[in-house]
Amino acid sequence: KRVALAFSGGLDTTVCVPLLEEEYGYDEVVGVTVDVGQPEEEFDEAEETAEALDLEHYVVDAREEFAELCFDSVRANAEYQGYPLGTALARPVIAKEILAVAKENDCDALAHGCTGKGNDQLRFEAVWRASDLEVIAPVREMGLTREWEMEYADEKELPVEGGNEGAWSIDTNLWSRSVEGDELEDPSYVPPEDIYDWTTAPTEATETELVEIEFEAGSPVAVDGDDLDAVEMIEQLNEQAGAHGVGRTDMMEDRMLGLKVRENYEHPAATVLLAAHEALEQLVLTKEERDFKQQIDHQWAEKGYQGLVDAPLVNSLEGFLDANQTKVTGTVTVKLEAGQARPVARDSEYAVYSESAASFNTETVDGIEQADATGVAKYHGFQSRLANAVAEGVEKP
Ligand code: ARG
Ligand code: SIN
Repeated sequence: KRVALAFSGGLDTTVCVPLLEEEYGYDEVVGVTVDVGQPEEEFDEAEETAEALDLEHYVVDAREEFAELCFDSVRANAEYQGYPLGTALARPVIAKEILAVAKENDCDALAHGCTGKGNDQLRFEAVWRASDLEVIAPVREMGLTREWEMEYADEKELPVEGGNEGAWSIDTNLWSRSVEGDELEDPSYVPPEDIYDWTTAPTEATETELVEIEFEAGSPVAVDGDDLDAVEMIEQLNEQAGAHGVGRTDMMEDRMLGLKVRENYEHPAATVLLAAHEALEQLVLTKEERDFKQQIDHQWAEKGYQGLVDAPLVNSLEGFLDANQTKVTGTVTVKLEAGQARPVARDSEYAVYSESAASFNTETVDGIEQADATGVAKYHGFQSRLANAVAEGVEKP
Protein backbone atom coordinates (compact mmCIF):
# COMPACT_ATOMS: atom_id res chain seq x y z
CA LYS A 1 0.00 0.00 0.00
CA ARG A 2 1.12 3.53 -0.85
CA VAL A 3 0.49 6.83 0.91
CA ALA A 4 1.12 10.36 -0.38
CA LEU A 5 2.42 12.68 2.33
CA ALA A 6 2.36 16.49 2.28
CA PHE A 7 6.09 16.88 2.77
CA SER A 8 8.10 19.99 3.65
CA GLY A 9 11.21 18.39 5.11
CA GLY A 10 10.46 20.02 8.47
CA LEU A 11 10.21 18.17 11.77
CA ASP A 12 6.52 17.17 11.64
CA THR A 13 6.49 15.78 8.14
CA THR A 14 9.89 14.07 8.47
CA VAL A 15 8.74 12.20 11.56
CA CYS A 16 5.61 11.14 9.67
CA VAL A 17 7.63 9.09 7.17
CA PRO A 18 8.78 6.25 9.50
CA LEU A 19 5.51 6.46 11.43
CA LEU A 20 3.45 5.83 8.29
CA GLU A 21 5.52 2.73 7.62
CA GLU A 22 5.87 1.37 11.15
CA GLU A 23 2.67 2.47 12.87
CA TYR A 24 0.29 2.58 9.92
CA GLY A 25 1.78 -0.29 7.92
CA TYR A 26 2.30 1.46 4.57
CA ASP A 27 4.86 -0.13 2.24
CA GLU A 28 5.73 3.10 0.48
CA VAL A 29 5.52 6.76 1.36
CA VAL A 30 5.45 9.27 -1.49
CA GLY A 31 6.50 12.79 -0.41
CA VAL A 32 4.92 15.74 -2.21
CA THR A 33 6.22 19.29 -1.82
CA VAL A 34 4.09 21.98 -3.44
CA ASP A 35 5.76 25.23 -4.43
CA VAL A 36 3.63 28.20 -3.35
CA GLY A 37 6.62 30.53 -3.20
CA GLN A 38 8.65 29.21 -0.27
CA PRO A 39 12.31 30.28 -0.22
CA GLU A 40 14.90 28.18 -2.09
CA GLU A 41 16.35 26.79 1.14
CA GLU A 42 13.10 25.05 1.97
CA PHE A 43 13.20 23.06 -1.26
CA ASP A 44 16.84 22.20 -0.67
CA GLU A 45 15.91 21.01 2.81
CA ALA A 46 12.97 18.97 1.48
CA GLU A 47 15.14 17.51 -1.28
CA GLU A 48 17.98 16.59 1.07
CA THR A 49 15.70 15.13 3.71
CA ALA A 50 13.80 13.11 1.11
CA GLU A 51 17.06 11.74 -0.22
CA ALA A 52 18.32 10.83 3.24
CA LEU A 53 15.02 9.06 3.96
CA ASP A 54 15.11 7.32 0.60
CA LEU A 55 11.71 8.83 -0.08
CA GLU A 56 10.01 8.91 -3.48
CA HIS A 57 9.64 12.69 -3.77
CA TYR A 58 7.75 15.04 -6.09
CA VAL A 59 7.87 18.82 -6.29
CA VAL A 60 4.93 20.58 -7.93
CA ASP A 61 4.93 24.25 -8.95
CA ALA A 62 1.60 25.87 -8.00
CA ARG A 63 2.86 29.43 -7.66
CA GLU A 64 0.81 30.86 -10.50
CA GLU A 65 -2.45 29.30 -9.36
CA PHE A 66 -1.80 30.44 -5.80
CA ALA A 67 -0.86 33.99 -6.83
CA GLU A 68 -4.07 34.27 -8.88
CA LEU A 69 -6.06 33.23 -5.82
CA CYS A 70 -4.27 35.89 -3.77
CA PHE A 71 -5.31 38.48 -6.38
CA ASP A 72 -8.91 37.22 -6.16
CA SER A 73 -8.65 37.87 -2.43
CA VAL A 74 -7.57 41.46 -3.12
CA ARG A 75 -10.83 42.11 -4.99
CA ALA A 76 -12.59 41.11 -1.75
CA ASN A 77 -10.18 43.13 0.47
CA ALA A 78 -9.70 39.80 2.21
CA GLU A 79 -8.25 39.85 5.68
CA TYR A 80 -9.14 37.74 8.71
CA GLN A 81 -8.91 39.74 11.92
CA GLY A 82 -6.26 41.84 10.19
CA TYR A 83 -4.26 39.00 8.63
CA PRO A 84 -3.98 38.71 4.82
CA LEU A 85 -4.83 35.07 4.13
CA GLY A 86 -1.45 33.58 3.12
CA THR A 87 -1.43 30.23 4.89
CA ALA A 88 -5.18 29.86 4.56
CA LEU A 89 -5.37 30.35 0.77
CA ALA A 90 -2.32 28.19 0.12
CA ARG A 91 -3.77 25.09 1.80
CA PRO A 92 -6.52 24.17 -0.69
CA VAL A 93 -4.09 24.77 -3.56
CA ILE A 94 -1.50 22.47 -1.94
CA ALA A 95 -4.13 19.87 -1.05
CA LYS A 96 -5.42 19.68 -4.64
CA GLU A 97 -1.92 19.23 -6.08
CA ILE A 98 -1.10 16.48 -3.60
CA LEU A 99 -4.33 14.68 -4.38
CA ALA A 100 -3.48 14.80 -8.10
CA VAL A 101 0.02 13.38 -7.50
CA ALA A 102 -1.45 10.68 -5.24
CA LYS A 103 -3.87 9.57 -7.95
CA GLU A 104 -1.22 9.60 -10.69
CA ASN A 105 1.03 7.47 -8.52
CA ASP A 106 -1.46 4.84 -7.38
CA CYS A 107 -1.65 5.89 -3.76
CA ASP A 108 -4.31 4.49 -1.44
CA ALA A 109 -4.10 7.23 1.15
CA LEU A 110 -3.18 10.85 1.86
CA ALA A 111 -1.34 12.09 4.94
CA HIS A 112 -0.42 15.43 6.49
CA GLY A 113 1.69 16.45 9.47
CA CYS A 114 -0.75 19.01 10.92
CA THR A 115 -1.57 19.02 14.60
CA GLY A 116 -5.06 18.54 15.99
CA LYS A 117 -5.02 22.08 17.31
CA GLY A 118 -4.66 24.15 14.19
CA ASN A 119 -6.56 25.20 11.09
CA ASP A 120 -4.47 23.44 8.47
CA GLN A 121 -5.82 19.94 9.25
CA LEU A 122 -9.31 21.23 8.42
CA ARG A 123 -8.24 23.02 5.24
CA PHE A 124 -6.36 20.00 3.86
CA GLU A 125 -9.04 17.51 4.69
CA ALA A 126 -11.87 19.62 3.28
CA VAL A 127 -10.27 18.97 -0.12
CA TRP A 128 -9.09 15.42 0.46
CA ARG A 129 -12.29 14.02 1.93
CA ALA A 130 -14.04 14.68 -1.39
CA SER A 131 -11.89 11.84 -2.80
CA ASP A 132 -12.16 8.16 -1.92
CA LEU A 133 -8.59 7.98 -0.60
CA GLU A 134 -8.03 7.38 3.08
CA VAL A 135 -6.91 10.40 5.14
CA ILE A 136 -4.23 10.00 7.81
CA ALA A 137 -3.04 12.58 10.34
CA PRO A 138 -0.29 10.90 12.41
CA VAL A 139 0.57 13.92 14.57
CA ARG A 140 -3.08 14.39 15.55
CA GLU A 141 -4.02 10.74 15.79
CA MET A 142 -0.99 9.78 17.89
CA GLY A 143 -1.19 12.95 19.99
CA LEU A 144 2.42 13.91 19.24
CA THR A 145 4.17 16.90 20.76
CA ARG A 146 7.14 18.66 19.20
CA GLU A 147 9.26 17.45 22.11
CA TRP A 148 8.32 13.84 21.45
CA GLU A 149 9.02 14.35 17.75
CA MET A 150 12.51 15.70 18.47
CA GLU A 151 13.37 12.77 20.72
CA TYR A 152 11.99 10.31 18.17
CA ALA A 153 13.96 11.96 15.37
CA ASP A 154 17.07 11.72 17.50
CA GLU A 155 16.50 8.08 18.34
CA LYS A 156 15.79 7.16 14.70
CA GLU A 157 18.63 9.39 13.50
CA LEU A 158 16.24 11.19 11.18
CA PRO A 159 17.72 14.02 9.11
CA VAL A 160 16.13 16.97 10.88
CA GLU A 161 18.14 20.17 11.10
CA GLY A 162 20.18 20.39 14.27
CA GLY A 163 19.26 23.01 16.84
CA ASN A 164 15.56 22.58 16.26
CA GLU A 165 15.04 23.26 19.95
CA GLY A 166 13.79 26.78 20.34
CA ALA A 167 13.14 27.12 16.63
CA TRP A 168 9.89 28.77 15.57
CA SER A 169 7.27 27.01 13.53
CA ILE A 170 7.36 28.93 10.25
CA ASP A 171 5.06 28.79 7.24
CA THR A 172 6.08 30.76 4.17
CA ASN A 173 4.42 31.38 0.82
CA LEU A 174 4.17 34.27 -1.64
CA TRP A 175 1.45 36.08 0.30
CA SER A 176 2.74 35.84 3.87
CA ARG A 177 5.32 34.48 6.25
CA SER A 178 3.94 33.20 9.53
CA VAL A 179 5.95 32.56 12.70
CA GLU A 180 4.54 30.89 15.76
CA GLY A 181 5.31 28.54 18.63
CA ASP A 182 7.85 28.30 21.43
CA GLU A 183 8.25 31.58 23.43
CA LEU A 184 5.89 33.31 21.01
CA GLU A 185 3.07 31.24 22.51
CA ASP A 186 3.20 33.62 25.48
CA PRO A 187 1.11 36.63 24.40
CA SER A 188 3.05 38.87 26.79
CA TYR A 189 6.41 37.94 25.25
CA VAL A 190 7.84 40.68 23.01
CA PRO A 191 9.21 39.02 19.84
CA PRO A 192 12.89 39.52 19.13
CA GLU A 193 13.78 41.25 15.86
CA ASP A 194 15.17 37.99 14.44
CA ILE A 195 11.75 36.37 13.94
CA TYR A 196 11.44 38.70 10.93
CA ASP A 197 12.95 37.81 7.60
CA TRP A 198 11.04 39.82 4.99
CA THR A 199 10.83 43.17 6.73
CA THR A 200 13.45 45.66 7.84
CA ALA A 201 12.79 47.15 11.27
CA PRO A 202 10.56 50.17 10.54
CA THR A 203 12.83 52.39 12.63
CA GLU A 204 15.77 51.51 10.38
CA ALA A 205 13.85 52.16 7.18
CA THR A 206 14.39 55.87 6.87
CA GLU A 207 13.98 56.47 3.14
CA THR A 208 10.59 57.22 1.63
CA GLU A 209 9.45 55.73 -1.67
CA LEU A 210 6.38 56.10 -3.87
CA VAL A 211 5.02 53.10 -5.74
CA GLU A 212 2.19 53.26 -8.29
CA ILE A 213 -0.14 50.27 -8.58
CA GLU A 214 -2.41 49.93 -11.60
CA PHE A 215 -5.66 47.93 -11.33
CA GLU A 216 -7.93 46.50 -13.97
CA ALA A 217 -11.35 45.30 -12.83
CA GLY A 218 -10.11 45.05 -9.26
CA SER A 219 -6.97 43.05 -10.04
CA PRO A 220 -3.47 44.53 -9.86
CA VAL A 221 -1.81 44.49 -13.29
CA ALA A 222 1.20 46.84 -13.19
CA VAL A 223 3.69 48.45 -10.83
CA ASP A 224 5.19 51.81 -11.77
CA GLY A 225 4.00 51.25 -15.34
CA ASP A 226 5.52 47.76 -15.73
CA ASP A 227 3.04 45.01 -16.54
CA LEU A 228 3.81 42.12 -14.23
CA ASP A 229 2.22 38.73 -13.76
CA ALA A 230 0.88 37.92 -10.30
CA VAL A 231 3.92 35.95 -9.10
CA GLU A 232 6.42 38.59 -10.27
CA MET A 233 4.42 41.43 -8.80
CA ILE A 234 4.07 39.81 -5.38
CA GLU A 235 7.77 38.93 -5.26
CA GLN A 236 8.80 42.44 -6.29
CA LEU A 237 6.52 44.19 -3.81
CA ASN A 238 7.53 41.90 -0.95
CA GLU A 239 11.08 43.02 -1.49
CA GLN A 240 10.34 46.68 -2.19
CA ALA A 241 7.87 47.25 0.66
CA GLY A 242 9.65 44.86 3.03
CA ALA A 243 12.70 47.14 2.84
CA HIS A 244 10.50 49.87 4.35
CA GLY A 245 9.35 47.62 7.18
CA VAL A 246 5.84 47.42 5.71
CA GLY A 247 3.52 44.53 6.61
CA ARG A 248 4.13 43.24 10.11
CA THR A 249 1.27 41.87 12.18
CA ASP A 250 1.49 40.66 15.79
CA MET A 251 -1.95 39.45 16.82
CA MET A 252 -4.19 37.17 18.79
CA GLU A 253 -6.02 35.02 16.27
CA ASP A 254 -9.24 33.08 16.81
CA ARG A 255 -8.73 29.72 15.15
CA MET A 256 -11.58 27.69 13.75
CA LEU A 257 -11.59 25.30 16.70
CA GLY A 258 -12.09 28.27 19.00
CA LEU A 259 -8.55 28.40 20.36
CA LYS A 260 -6.94 31.82 20.57
CA VAL A 261 -3.32 31.78 19.40
CA ARG A 262 -0.59 34.37 19.18
CA GLU A 263 0.52 34.81 15.59
CA ASN A 264 3.20 36.87 13.93
CA TYR A 265 3.06 37.59 10.21
CA GLU A 266 4.99 39.42 7.54
CA HIS A 267 3.14 40.36 4.34
CA PRO A 268 4.58 43.48 2.64
CA ALA A 269 3.11 42.93 -0.85
CA ALA A 270 -0.31 42.02 0.52
CA THR A 271 -0.37 45.15 2.67
CA VAL A 272 0.47 47.42 -0.29
CA LEU A 273 -1.98 45.80 -2.70
CA LEU A 274 -4.85 45.64 -0.20
CA ALA A 275 -4.34 49.28 0.82
CA ALA A 276 -4.14 50.42 -2.81
CA HIS A 277 -7.21 48.42 -3.84
CA GLU A 278 -9.32 49.83 -1.06
CA ALA A 279 -8.18 53.37 -1.87
CA LEU A 280 -9.35 52.90 -5.45
CA GLU A 281 -12.72 51.56 -4.28
CA GLN A 282 -13.13 54.73 -2.18
CA LEU A 283 -12.92 56.71 -5.40
CA VAL A 284 -15.09 54.66 -7.76
CA LEU A 285 -17.78 52.91 -5.70
CA THR A 286 -20.89 54.62 -4.37
CA LYS A 287 -21.39 54.72 -0.61
CA GLU A 288 -24.08 52.05 -0.69
CA GLU A 289 -21.92 49.80 -2.85
CA ARG A 290 -19.08 50.18 -0.36
CA ASP A 291 -21.32 49.51 2.63
CA PHE A 292 -22.87 46.43 1.09
CA LYS A 293 -19.54 45.15 -0.20
CA GLN A 294 -18.19 44.98 3.35
CA GLN A 295 -20.54 42.06 3.91
CA ILE A 296 -19.43 40.38 0.69
CA ASP A 297 -15.79 40.92 1.68
CA HIS A 298 -16.36 39.58 5.18
CA GLN A 299 -17.98 36.39 3.91
CA TRP A 300 -15.24 35.89 1.31
CA ALA A 301 -12.56 36.26 4.00
CA GLU A 302 -14.33 33.86 6.36
CA LYS A 303 -14.49 31.17 3.67
CA GLY A 304 -10.91 31.94 2.66
CA TYR A 305 -9.74 31.56 6.24
CA GLN A 306 -11.58 28.27 6.53
CA GLY A 307 -9.87 26.96 3.38
CA LEU A 308 -13.26 26.71 1.66
CA VAL A 309 -12.73 28.84 -1.45
CA ASP A 310 -14.62 26.18 -3.42
CA ALA A 311 -17.80 26.72 -1.39
CA PRO A 312 -20.89 27.59 -3.49
CA LEU A 313 -21.18 30.80 -1.47
CA VAL A 314 -17.77 31.96 -2.73
CA ASN A 315 -18.92 31.32 -6.29
CA SER A 316 -21.93 33.55 -5.68
CA LEU A 317 -19.78 36.22 -4.04
CA GLU A 318 -17.52 36.11 -7.10
CA GLY A 319 -20.60 36.85 -9.22
CA PHE A 320 -21.12 40.06 -7.25
CA LEU A 321 -17.44 40.93 -7.45
CA ASP A 322 -17.32 40.39 -11.23
CA ALA A 323 -20.15 42.88 -11.69
CA ASN A 324 -18.95 45.33 -9.08
CA GLN A 325 -15.21 45.40 -9.74
CA THR A 326 -15.28 46.41 -13.43
CA LYS A 327 -15.10 50.02 -12.22
CA VAL A 328 -12.15 49.34 -9.95
CA THR A 329 -9.82 50.27 -12.78
CA GLY A 330 -7.19 52.97 -12.40
CA THR A 331 -4.04 53.76 -10.46
CA VAL A 332 -3.14 54.37 -6.83
CA THR A 333 0.13 55.78 -5.56
CA VAL A 334 1.25 54.37 -2.23
CA LYS A 335 3.87 55.97 -0.01
CA LEU A 336 6.18 53.47 1.65
CA GLU A 337 7.52 55.03 4.78
CA ALA A 338 8.73 53.77 8.16
CA GLY A 339 6.64 50.59 8.29
CA GLN A 340 3.61 52.14 6.61
CA ALA A 341 2.02 51.82 3.19
CA ARG A 342 -0.21 54.86 2.82
CA PRO A 343 -2.19 55.61 -0.35
CA VAL A 344 -1.44 59.23 -1.26
CA ALA A 345 -2.93 59.60 -4.75
CA ARG A 346 -5.62 57.86 -6.81
CA ASP A 347 -6.94 58.25 -10.35
CA SER A 348 -9.65 56.53 -12.38
CA GLU A 349 -11.87 57.23 -15.36
CA TYR A 350 -14.69 55.76 -13.20
CA ALA A 351 -14.24 58.22 -10.32
CA VAL A 352 -17.62 59.07 -8.75
CA TYR A 353 -16.16 62.45 -7.91
CA SER A 354 -16.80 65.94 -9.16
CA GLU A 355 -14.21 68.44 -8.10
CA SER A 356 -16.47 71.36 -8.98
CA ALA A 357 -19.33 69.91 -6.90
CA ALA A 358 -17.19 69.28 -3.82
CA SER A 359 -14.96 72.36 -3.99
CA PHE A 360 -15.36 75.27 -1.57
CA ASN A 361 -14.46 77.57 -4.42
CA THR A 362 -17.46 77.11 -6.75
CA GLU A 363 -20.88 78.71 -6.34
CA THR A 364 -23.33 76.62 -8.36
CA VAL A 365 -23.10 73.10 -9.74
CA ASP A 366 -25.66 71.60 -12.08
CA GLY A 367 -28.00 74.45 -11.10
CA ILE A 368 -27.66 73.72 -7.35
CA GLU A 369 -26.50 76.54 -5.06
CA GLN A 370 -25.25 76.36 -1.49
CA ALA A 371 -28.48 77.94 -0.25
CA ASP A 372 -30.40 74.91 -1.56
CA ALA A 373 -28.99 72.86 1.34
CA THR A 374 -30.87 75.04 3.86
CA GLY A 375 -34.04 72.95 3.64
CA VAL A 376 -32.07 69.75 4.12
CA ALA A 377 -30.32 71.26 7.13
CA LYS A 378 -33.68 72.27 8.66
CA TYR A 379 -35.03 68.73 8.43
CA HIS A 380 -31.80 66.99 9.47
CA GLY A 381 -32.27 65.43 12.92
CA PHE A 382 -36.01 66.25 12.99
CA GLN A 383 -36.99 62.77 14.14
CA SER A 384 -34.47 62.81 16.99
CA ARG A 385 -35.63 66.23 18.16
CA LEU A 386 -39.22 65.00 18.17
CA ALA A 387 -38.37 61.77 20.02
CA ASN A 388 -36.34 63.64 22.65
CA ALA A 389 -39.15 66.12 23.20
CA VAL A 390 -41.60 63.23 23.76
CA ALA A 391 -39.18 61.54 26.19
CA GLU A 392 -38.65 64.73 28.16
CA GLY A 393 -42.35 65.54 28.17
CA VAL A 394 -41.78 69.00 26.68
CA GLU A 395 -43.77 70.59 23.86
CA LYS A 396 -43.18 68.86 20.51
CA PRO A 397 -41.52 70.92 17.75
N1 ARG B 1 -2.74 30.50 12.08
C1 ARG B 1 -2.45 30.84 10.71
C2 ARG B 1 -3.54 30.30 9.82
O1 ARG B 1 -4.24 29.43 10.22
C3 ARG B 1 -1.08 30.45 10.22
C4 ARG B 1 -0.53 29.16 10.66
C5 ARG B 1 0.79 28.95 10.00
N2 ARG B 1 1.50 27.81 10.47
C6 ARG B 1 2.72 27.87 11.07
N3 ARG B 1 3.25 26.76 11.46
N4 ARG B 1 3.32 28.99 11.27
O2 ARG B 1 -3.69 30.73 8.71
C1 SIN C 1 -0.71 23.15 12.87
O1 SIN C 1 -1.28 23.21 13.97
O2 SIN C 1 -0.52 22.07 12.29
C2 SIN C 1 -0.18 24.41 12.25
C3 SIN C 1 -0.97 25.63 12.53
C4 SIN C 1 -2.38 25.61 12.00
O3 SIN C 1 -2.78 24.65 11.34
O4 SIN C 1 -3.15 26.57 12.28
